Amino acid sequence: MQKSTQVLFKTQFEEDVYKGLSDFPKHLSSKYFYDQKGDKLFQDIMHMPEYYLTRKEYDILKQHTAEIAEKFAMGNPKFKLIELGAGDGKKTKILLKYLSENNFDVKYQPIDISQSVLDGLEKSLHKELPDLQVEPQHGTYFEALEKINLENGTKKVILFLGSNIGNLLHEHAIAFLKSVQELMQEDDLLFIGFDMKKNPQTILDAYNDPSGITEAFNKNVLARINTELDGNFDLDKFLHWEVYDPETGTAKSYLVAKEAQTVSIDKLGLLIDFAPWETIHTEISQKYDDKVVAWLADNAGLKIETEFSDPEKEYKNFVFKKC
Ligand code: AVI
Repeated sequence: MQKSTQVLFKTQFEEDVYKGLSDFPKHLSSKYFYDQKGDKLFQDIMHMPEYYLTRKEYDILKQHTAEIAEKFAMGNPKFKLIELGAGDGKKTKILLKYLSENNFDVKYQPIDISQSVLDGLEKSLHKELPDLQVEPQHGTYFEALEKINLENGTKKVILFLGSNIGNLLHEHAIAFLKSVQELMQEDDLLFIGFDMKKNPQTILDAYNDPSGITEAFNKNVLARINTELDGNFDLDKFLHWEVYDPETGTAKSYLVAKEAQTVSIDKLGLLIDFAPWETIHTEISQKYDDKVVAWLADNAGLKIETEFSDPEKEYKNFVFKKC
């Protein structure tokens, strides 16, 4: 099943696929859902009626734009708005429009690992908000944040929207928050979107749409292994399966083998056996309550300044400061 000689990996993807599929139980990281096709599938997910997260966060930003802007400024209208994983910026544009129309002195610095995402965002902002200063930063969050920090002493407001934090296990979320906290100064703010615990059926429906978009998104990691690593996964031989534990608030996605099969991944010299109904765990989408958010903040050296939510309190955007 495994190569006896030591394997030299050319990319992190190769190493993670090799290790994840050689492990028991098998797993693959959801960060590999996102290539050009995966980005498009995620855009489609955000437009699905079942995927309430995007809509709720959009509504929060729309309902509380002025209050949020005032909170960000805290009496000082000059700041940098830095967004981690900006995507198409649809939600952020609500804030940016308000800020540029109301004489705030804001520089928007979207950070993304994808240059094409940044190019698209910059182009659309140039058209929609020609007076806004935009300075895209290409790279990983921390590389870019470190670079921004070196520039000067202007106050920073860091955005991390979409409950992206929910794709991290708690220990990884704390490590992530700590790293951001270390790059924050006393007056800087961190604004994060959290999907809260709610009716478990609502959550299951959001990750199990009947049109099969989430299934295709989940299976995109297998499609990438096929095209990038010369794999021969038959995508029809796997089921997309979602579970949600209302106690822990963790939604988990799996790919389940419908029958016994052997898959080869030529670039890794790997043959992988699947027993019938064997699983590959691919994603967690954590749901929170107030206690858990406070616990995460506490562990990362952050304190909650304030929160904004929808009327049902099913989604919340928290503002944090350094302790
Ligand atoms: C990006 N992330 C917050 C999404 C989520 O809700 O976990 C990814 C996603 N997976 C399935 N549907 C959407």
